[in-house]
Amino acid sequence: MSKPKRIAILTGGGDCPGINAVIRAVAKTAIMKYGMEVTGYRDGFWGLIHDKHRCLDVEDVSGILTLGGTILGTSNRANPFRHPQKGPQGLSFQDVSDQVMENYGKQKLDALVVIGGDGSLSIAQGLCQKGMNVVGVPKTIDNDLCETDVTFGYATAVFNATEAIDKIHSTAQSHHRVMLVETMGRYAGWIALAAGVASGGDVILIPEMPYDLEVISQKVCERSRKGKRFSIVVVAEGAKPRGGEMVVDRVIEESTDPWRLGGISRNLAVDIEKETGQECRVTVLGHLQRGGTPVPSDRILATRFGCAAADLVAEGRFGLMVALKNDRVVPVELDKAVAKQKLVPPDHPLILANKAIGVCFGDE
Ligand code: F6P
Repeated sequence: MSKPKRIAILTGGGDCPGINAVIRAVAKTAIMKYGMEVTGYRDGFWGLIHDKHRCLDVEDVSGILTLGGTILGTSNRANPFRHPQKGPQGLSFQDVSDQVMENYGKQKLDALVVIGGDGSLSIAQGLCQKGMNVVGVPKTIDNDLCETDVTFGYATAVFNATEAIDKIHSTAQSHHRVMLVETMGRYAGWIALAAGVASGGDVILIPEMPYDLEVISQKVCERSRKGKRFSIVVVAEGAKPRGGEMVVDRVIEESTDPWRLGGISRNLAVDIEKETGQECRVTVLGHLQRGGTPVPSDRILATRFGCAAADLVAEGRFGLMVALKNDRVVPVELDKAVAKQKLVPPDHPLILANKAIGVCFGDE
């Protein structure tokens, strides 16, 4: 293959702190180190389907390192392999991936850098199989992507959640309440685990370890008996009771993953109040966790990932995702990265260490 001359960047799925830092690093490396032309698709795969993009010069990506969100816009409803169409018969889905390949060809692109989570990177993998030159960058606050030790955005989400729980701590203490704080994370408990540990949560509930209400209630009562008249319960949105199901807040049919989780902490608050007689309050942190400026470690990781993605493009190496392994940025096979979700193992060292110091995970 001749030297890549023209590349595009696309950001898909939920926004995430550090996306702009990746865009900046990819574009600057491509332009300044390799003399390439760079364009950015608008609103994720929607832009690729409808051929909506804009040229990115060095000035366009300058000053965005610390900016939250994505300057390109994003969408989690525009899957070219399952493109939603609203008609008189309701919602139907069409495969418009050939149109996407045509648009890519029309723009004379040599490669596409997809900054996304498992949904967007699975689409990227599908396009790769159709012959597109794709490089992926692992983006998600959930940290649930395989083949990388960590995704960018996760550290900021943990920081934001920790800061919020720290604030809730003082009200819990003053009012002698059980405060439940619900974090994001989808089917993985990484955010709840890290923020729960960092903020000194008394009970931490994650999807990977279904909980027993009695175990949680015992912990709350035991704390009261010992003079601690409050408890902090950190609940991942995907947490579920033993033998029970996750709580789905809404279903978005057009989305790559239609389920939106949320609401488990409200159900649990009612149950704990009934069991213990202690007053409970609920805070759902929601999108606060992924908004705003990225923490320094995410800015650094995003920059490393972005530079490495542009290097792979320049070397003509595709079907890969940049990943962090043992503090080194390395290329991994895109298909392996999206093959399954990276969940928290119940024997994770952080869980074992915190169980040893009395933190309750609702399981025993
Ligand atoms: O994947 C990121 C994430 O923030 C999840 O933690 C959460 O379940 C979901 O996206 C929320 O999606 P939306 O922004 O569509 O409500």
